[in-house]
Amino acid sequence: MDLLVNYLGLKLKSPVVVGSSSLTTSLDRLKKIEAAGAGAVVLKSIFEEEIYNEYRSILEKDNKEEHPDLGYLDYYDYKIKEDNIKAYLQLIHDAKAALSIPVIASVNCVSSWEWNFFAKKIQEAGADALEINLFTLPSDFNLTCEKVENTYFRIINNIKKAITIPVSVKLSYYFADLAAFVKRISDSGVDGVVLFNRFFHPDFDIENFSLVPTNVLSQDSDMAISLRWMSILSGRMGCDLIASTGVHDGASVIKEILAGADAVQVVSSLYKNGIEYISDILQEVKAWMEKHEFESLDDFRGRMSQVSSPNPDEYERVQFMRYFESKKYDLD
Ligand SMILES: Cc1cc2nc3c(=O)[nH]c(=O)nc-3n(C[C@H](O)[C@H](O)[C@H](O)COP(=O)(O)O)c2cc1C
Repeated sequence: MDLLVNYLGLKLKSPVVVGSSSLTTSLDRLKKIEAAGAGAVVLKSIFEEEIYNEYRSILEKDNKEEHPDLGYLDYYDYKIKEDNIKAYLQLIHDAKAALSIPVIASVNCVSSWEWNFFAKKIQEAGADALEINLFTLPSDFNLTCEKVENTYFRIINNIKKAITIPVSVKLSYYFADLAAFVKRISDSGVDGVVLFNRFFHPDFDIENFSLVPTNVLSQDSDMAISLRWMSILSGRMGCDLIASTGVHDGASVIKEILAGADAVQVVSSLYKNGIEYISDILQEVKAWMEKHEFESLDDFRGRMSQVSSPNPDEYERVQFMRYFESKKYDLD
């Protein structure tokens, strides 16, 4: 029996990829991740926003009158970007030297202004692939779907033109035409799509009247969204699909592969259970495969996807109609 996977044209020894997070920022942790059996790692994203914020805070701190000419701005612009990028590129370089599993770099972007520059450097540093994390909250009252979607395709096209390593796109599910949109993304020439990203959400501290983060880590129940969409989309895209959000244990890996996932990404479960938990997850998958006499993941991949189902409508059921008829959900 083996757990081998092909993802983005890369050979992975297992379907568990550790997703972009602070788990993947240091070489020590990356080595532990590899030792625990992960198939690949996605490094912590370098954020366009992060660079911009750092740039802004330095400008605000400094006395601008001492630097009246524009050269001052250019200097900081150049230096800060260099420092961030240098550290990131060094991590890619060191990770490639120390690990035998694929190292996927990650860039978070909300616009297309700086991408070619990042992407080329990342490829030169030795990354096996690039995952791009694309999302802006659709909170602008003047921004139409068409404009939002066009930005995505502009970014993808710019990156695909700039580099030759595989590119995957990490998406949210906030699209009115999600199935059609993912299909268009897949047709744009990307090598993979990550279903789905999970975001920071604010809560209210009602004593201090301030915003505070909430539910930073996912629950296993959060997997329902990626499981449904993986089931609906798999077998219909021209690129690989990897599940992300709520994959917490071996059973959830099995479910996503039954839905048609090429592989899965895991983050919150490792924050909760430790990096070593990857080997428990893989053990659970192997035990289940043994019980069901499967030799490889291909033996059952997509078996429960919508395209393979005799009852495809069940995957599209969204209303609770049946539950109103059921005694189980009555209060008395
Ligand atoms: C602390 C933390 C940091 C994260 N940082 C990033 C990041 O830099 N880039 C990114 O694309 N996703 C980031 N994510 C999102 C994860 O990669 C992942 O998509 C999300 O947590 C859902 O997977 P999970 O349910 O296994 O946690 C982060 C998540 C957490 C919890």
